[in-house]
Amino acid sequence: MDEQKTGLPQYPESFWLASAEIPSSGKLTADLSVDVAVVGGGITGITLAYLLAKEGQKVALLEAGRILTGTTGHTTAKVTAQHDLIYDEFIHHVGEEKARLYYDANRQAMDFIRSTVRELDISCDWAEEDAYVYTASEQNVAKIDKEWKAYEKLGIPGKRVNGIPLPIPGVLAAVAMTGQARFHPTAYLSRLVREFVGLGGQLFEETMAKTVEHGSPYSQVVTEDGHRVTCRNVASCTHFPFYGAGGFYFARMYSERSYALGVKRTQDYPGGVYLSADTPPRSIRTVSYGGEDLLVIGGERHKTGQGICTFQHYEALEKFAQETFGPAEIRYRWSAQDLTTLDKIPYVGRPVASERNAFIATGYRKWGMTGGTAAALLLKDLILGIRSPYEELYTPSRFHADPSVKEFLSLNADVAKHLIAGKLEWVRRDPEDLGNDEGAAVHVNGKRAGAYREPGGALHVLDTTCTHMGCEVEWNDGERTWDCPCHGSRFSFRGEVLEGPAKKPLKVIR
Ligand SMILES: Cc1cc2nc3c(=O)[nH]c(=O)nc-3n(C[C@H](O)[C@H](O)[C@H](O)COP(=O)(O)OP(=O)(O)OC[C@H]3O[C@@H](n4cnc5c(N)ncnc54)[C@H](O)[C@@H]3O)c2cc1C
Ligand code: FES
Repeated sequence: MDEQKTGLPQYPESFWLASAEIPSSGKLTADLSVDVAVVGGGITGITLAYLLAKEGQKVALLEAGRILTGTTGHTTAKVTAQHDLIYDEFIHHVGEEKARLYYDANRQAMDFIRSTVRELDISCDWAEEDAYVYTASEQNVAKIDKEWKAYEKLGIPGKRVNGIPLPIPGVLAAVAMTGQARFHPTAYLSRLVREFVGLGGQLFEETMAKTVEHGSPYSQVVTEDGHRVTCRNVASCTHFPFYGAGGFYFARMYSERSYALGVKRTQDYPGGVYLSADTPPRSIRTVSYGGEDLLVIGGERHKTGQGICTFQHYEALEKFAQETFGPAEIRYRWSAQDLTTLDKIPYVGRPVASERNAFIATGYRKWGMTGGTAAALLLKDLILGIRSPYEELYTPSRFHADPSVKEFLSLNADVAKHLIAGKLEWVRRDPEDLGNDEGAAVHVNGKRAGAYREPGGALHVLDTTCTHMGCEVEWNDGERTWDCPCHGSRFSFRGEVLEGPAKKPLKVIR
């Protein structure tokens, strides 16, 4: 990206964060002893903490920033086991039995959310609808047919149709999974947090877990402030695991960003949640808030740090909204990233077999509403010593040869490319050239650096070498962040870590 666009129109960044009363708490200020330390306040960590507290466990939930402001606060919140066109692929790559287990785990997760919403009478706009993957491309009709055959084989309730209820031009085929859902994730999870605290659970925000000192029977989670949480079990629900480097997760997952708009809806909506199988993909659902009906339009995915100018992603979504539903009045706009594993099945369980009391959950491939809930249900069983039919499917120490090897090689080739190409890049600009609210790669003393000038004129110049493994970070003009193309770490314009795997800030030059 050479030139940076500036002056992006401002909108509230996420419908879910703007429209929910999210509980808050103070930071951890002393050492603590509990049964389980759950780290990460997104859907996985909150659901797990709630489940364990219900079982009478003494649980501390540690969150580096504010709960729910990670990927969970920036989702599109379809609750479905229809994770794109995946079941035909799974049958071929991991076999029919595991493909069925994957479906069962996600359907059970959906059942759990549904029954919890009913049991606790949670106001979170839970609505059951059919989920569709559609195509308007001749080339992809065969893929839809294969997916429908996989549904029939696995006994997944659904239908193969030639059109969809939405007015999208040119749709040729679709596969529907019946009885799926959508909801308001932060309203649902805020209630689980209140229940967790009511059950005696302890929540600590602004508390970053730095490392785990493993022991038997007790381990210790050490926080950035140097406090220690002594526990029998520790679970990393931090999106990218904050420990378990022995499992080489940075080389076994990649991070993809996606974009979403909340657009005022002016036409009747026929129901359903939708995803296109075409390129670029589009995701559609509806939501009501404050007397207004909104469409949540998502899509425009790319590997973190490797996209075009962020502004253009939002423009593309706006254009699609206009072409499909008429004039688009934007109310909200956000983007976020999620991690994909080598075989597209999340890593949930012990990061390395020898660490019996340490667990991770990650890699939901943008399907973490059911995926994160399924992970929490599995981790609850593993922590309580209950056998689960899903343990082997999700075990993080698995290694499937196909398509893992190909992906593994291409991931590492990608990293090598960014390690080398970033260093050799010839940067023409000087920090002093930047206008207000502009960021770019610049040269300082003959070396590549990164600079951003705040709207008030203050200039921040950083070393663009990622503190994880040394790739060169790229400027993200939509969010005023530095994003790493290799494993998805993100840093603020001041250099602070926003998302791992990096743990140390970028070096400040001036
Ligand atoms: C644009 C987009 C649309 C999506 N749409 C859907 C959808 O429609 N349906 C669906 O099922 N899924 C969807 N997903 C995926 C889903 O939102 C995610 O998979 C899910 O929210 C991930 O939850 P999580 O708990 O793993 O992570 P997060 O919500 O990111 O939570 C992790 C938390 O851990 C904290 N943390 C990190 N490191 C530390 C540390 N060292 N110490 C303490 N805390 C730490 C972070 O601050 C963060 O709050 C979408 C994703 C994206 C990006
Ligand atoms: S080098 Fe791994 S995230 Fe940057």
